[in-house]
Amino acid sequence: MTQPLSETSDSYRTAEESTEGHPGSIPVHVAVIMDGNGRWATRQGMSRSDGHRAGTDNIRRITRAFAERGVKYLTLYAFSTENWHRPSDEVQTLIELIEYAILKEVQSLHEQGVRIKHIGRLERLPRSLQESIRKCIELTKDNTAITLSVAFNYGGRTEIIDAIKAITADGIPSDRISEELVRGYLYTDGLPDPDLIVRTAGEMRLSNFLIFQSAYSEYYATQVCWPDFDEAEVAKAIEAYGTRKRRFGKVEE
Ligand code: FPP
Repeated sequence: MTQPLSETSDSYRTAEESTEGHPGSIPVHVAVIMDGNGRWATRQGMSRSDGHRAGTDNIRRITRAFAERGVKYLTLYAFSTENWHRPSDEVQTLIELIEYAILKEVQSLHEQGVRIKHIGRLERLPRSLQESIRKCIELTKDNTAITLSVAFNYGGRTEIIDAIKAITADGIPSDRISEELVRGYLYTDGLPDPDLIVRTAGEMRLSNFLIFQSAYSEYYATQVCWPDFDEAEVAKAIEAYGTRKRRFGKVEE
């Protein structure tokens, strides 16, 4: 049986209510762009699929490491709406890996008190996978140690378009449309904005990830590829966050 993680309260917070970057503060919500699986594998003479496998195996230890440091929400960018344009065998591998991860990891994550969420569009995924995703969300819905949101078939622009369509379909008049109302129509409804966005493997871009929610997020980029991003790298990212002073567009008091 896996050791449960300590419980944390699960209150909803907007970005401004999140940590404000006091020295040493811990981000409430960390979102990670898990990049570099392909480069990691190529450097070792392995296939890109091997890189994605190693990347999948890293999810458990990193979820645990962030939870043990007091992070309450972790969101991982696993498959973007643009990733469908990759070679079909690579797309197939990524779909198989999420199926495999659900089979192999979910019970242990559940025992650790991890609540699992999905953000993105489910409909283009195989029906059996959609069903497995729904089951693991249901199984873990009352867990409180950390909320792990997996962005799979996710795109920030698609998310905003889906929100606009739903707002229109609900017949909401324009004078009722506010930031808070829009938030409630995003896939991330109920999650606080990310305090910290981490990107591995050295690129400096957001790649259509949480583009509405990241307006005041802090960024941390590292050259380390995702399969090598370990507990020590988690500590470095959190330390870097603890040195930031967040102002949310205001001036310092
Ligand atoms: C980026 O590496 C990574 C991805 C596109 C996929 C990330 C997916 C996983 C870690 C595994 C599947 C997820 C789950 C939830 C089971 P890249 O291939 O773009 O690397 P490169 O830039 O070096 O080519």
